[in-house]
Amino acid sequence: MDLPDPEKNFPRPPPTKKDMEAEWESHARKMEERRNLGLAEDYWRQSGVGERHRLPIMLGANLEAHRQWAYSLGLAREVVKNGGMMAFLGSPGNGKTQMAAYLVWEVVHRPAPALFVESAEMVKALREPFKSRESELTVMRRFVDPVLLVIDEFRLGKTDWEQEQMGFILNKRYATMRPTILTANMARPEFSAMLGPRLCDRFREDGQVIVFNWGSFRGKGAGSD
Ligand SMILES: Nc1ncnc2c1ncn2[C@@H]1O[C@H](COP(=O)(O)OP(=O)(O)OP(=O)(O)O)[C@@H](O)[C@H]1O
Ligand SMILES: [Mg+2]
Repeated sequence: MDLPDPEKNFPRPPPTKKDMEAEWESHARKMEERRNLGLAEDYWRQSGVGERHRLPIMLGANLEAHRQWAYSLGLAREVVKNGGMMAFLGSPGNGKTQMAAYLVWEVVHRPAPALFVESAEMVKALREPFKSRESELTVMRRFVDPVLLVIDEFRLGKTDWEQEQMGFILNKRYATMRPTILTANMARPEFSAMLGPRLCDRFREDGQVIVFNWGSFRGKGAGSD
């Protein structure tokens, strides 16, 4: 003879209001998590970070350089959190673009919009309103609105007009406490001279210059100089 089915003989009491509320909350939380993940994926796709810097870092022989890189990432993360301006300076291949891309990844997973752009590409976009019907303000907002903006291979601009536009965007972001990262293959004095006294002053207030002074992660003999 089969044993009695406990579920059948002693049916569970109907869920209480508290049970139903808890179930609804857990469902809402899951929906929110799924929505956030979808948003993060969209933001990441639209961020402008190139394929190479989307790949996970391959740790090679240059572990000491990576250790210093990881320590600097901690400092950079704080500046992003506090909404400051930051410059990554140093010789080629020591991971400036990679770190900026990593910080973009962290911001999009908040989720919040972040934009990675090369300086030359940005100047080109700023010139677009002259050719298309897009308004100057719309283009400006593309660079002012993102929660994080990275300008890779930063140049202030050749003409007065370019410098004025770039200065305007940096100032707007500074005023609204949105973090901006500038990367450059330059030493500190050269970079300061390019920025000029007004922008340098903003760096001094709550920004940070991180000098990547370890060797290149690229190719043979990496990390040795
Ligand atoms: N911490 C790291 N550990 C290992 N590899 C890294 C690390 N950071 C960057 N890399 C790799 O090293 C290469 C060079 O990095 P990246 O392009 O960020 O250098 P960079 O400083 O921006 O160089 P450049 O000044 O020439 O633009 C890339 O392939 C990158 O994935
Ligand atoms: Mg680079």
